[in-house]
Amino acid sequence: MNIVKVNASKKYDVIIGSKTASLLPEKINELFGNVKVCIVTDDTVAGLHLDSLKNELNRNHIINEAFVFPHGENSKCPEVLFELLEFLATKHFSRKDVIVALGGGVTGDLTGLAAALYMRGMHLVQMPTTLLAMVDSSVGGKTAVNLKAGKNLAGVFNQPELVLCDTDMLSTLPAEYFAEGMAEVIKYGVIADKELFDVVKNGSIEENLEAIITRCVAIKRDVVGEDEFDTGKRQLLNFGHTLAHSIEKESNFTISHGNAVAMGMVIISEIAWKNGMSVERCQDEIVDALLENNLPIACPYKNSELYYATENDKKSASGRISIVVPEKIGSCNIIDIPLAEFRELLK
Ligand SMILES: NC(=O)c1ccc[n+]([C@@H]2O[C@H](COP(=O)([O-])OP(=O)(O)OC[C@H]3O[C@@H](n4cnc5c(N)ncnc54)[C@H](O)[C@@H]3O)[C@@H](O)[C@H]2O)c1
Repeated sequence: MNIVKVNASKKYDVIIGSKTASLLPEKINELFGNVKVCIVTDDTVAGLHLDSLKNELNRNHIINEAFVFPHGENSKCPEVLFELLEFLATKHFSRKDVIVALGGGVTGDLTGLAAALYMRGMHLVQMPTTLLAMVDSSVGGKTAVNLKAGKNLAGVFNQPELVLCDTDMLSTLPAEYFAEGMAEVIKYGVIADKELFDVVKNGSIEENLEAIITRCVAIKRDVVGEDEFDTGKRQLLNFGHTLAHSIEKESNFTISHGNAVAMGMVIISEIAWKNGMSVERCQDEIVDALLENNLPIACPYKNSELYYATENDKKSASGRISIVVPEKIGSCNIIDIPLAEFRELLK
């Protein structure tokens, strides 16, 4: 079991390892005292992991309720958010009580926002069940729901007070979702840790899973510690993501986020190398790492098509755009350029 200590506007532990879900009752007593717990989860995760978590709480005489919603990105919306808030009110939860997000990034983002809104804030515990949520979305405090106009448009920063990453839960995760998380792991390697990158490129995942997740969480902790509210260094975490958002949009969201990030990392690395922004050629190594982890490397769209999708992105509203380019594996730079220059680069 590993513990990463996060020191943001809230201080909290991220506990990573096998059977860490069983720590929930003791941690709740230690951190919050005698409280009620609302577990929020989607119907898939509920079928796999809810009963055992409820049993742990019941055995420890912690009163608990469960709010279960349909799985998938469509549930990350104002309607489900308000259903959850009404549920909390109907069940007489108070601001002293705890809400537990048991699930992937959709559950974490939705629950984190509900925790901030309900009675102006109740306690929040994240229990990520996808690799993506373990290495990325459960840590750092970004919460949101999607609006019809776009993804993540309504949200707040709300750090959890505890994150329990039980690696055993990944045993039920379908391979394609595991690969999605690996795209983010490869991203962490490129932006901050050559050693992590090499482990992942060599495919030594299973035997190193706990260490890999721990390292990713520590990198995120360090970045978020310097720039919690995403005005500077946190943009490093967007490596591959600016183009990924355009690829997702162009495909009408039929290409998943992780696959789009994989393609985005290859394209931006190639651009960086061709335009003298990298000191080492990185794209071949990135391609090797992606292929080793069952991720795609070729984008079905022309760069010019991606430019038009980028132009409408909320991140480029000022006529400028920040791109994250690899200097070499393990180190990236954020470059702020006019959109017109980005368009030239994409050519
Ligand atoms: N807040 C942040 O910083 C941040 C960062 C990255 C991504 N995100 C958000 O995260 C979301 C994507 O997260 P995700 O990929 O985890 O999606 P998800 O929550 O939809 O989970 C993916 C699928 O896996 C299923 N699942 C989850 N855990 C499982 C398990 N252990 N066994 C079997 N099935 C399981 C879910 O039911 C779902 O169908 C997006 O909405 C994205 O915007 C947020």
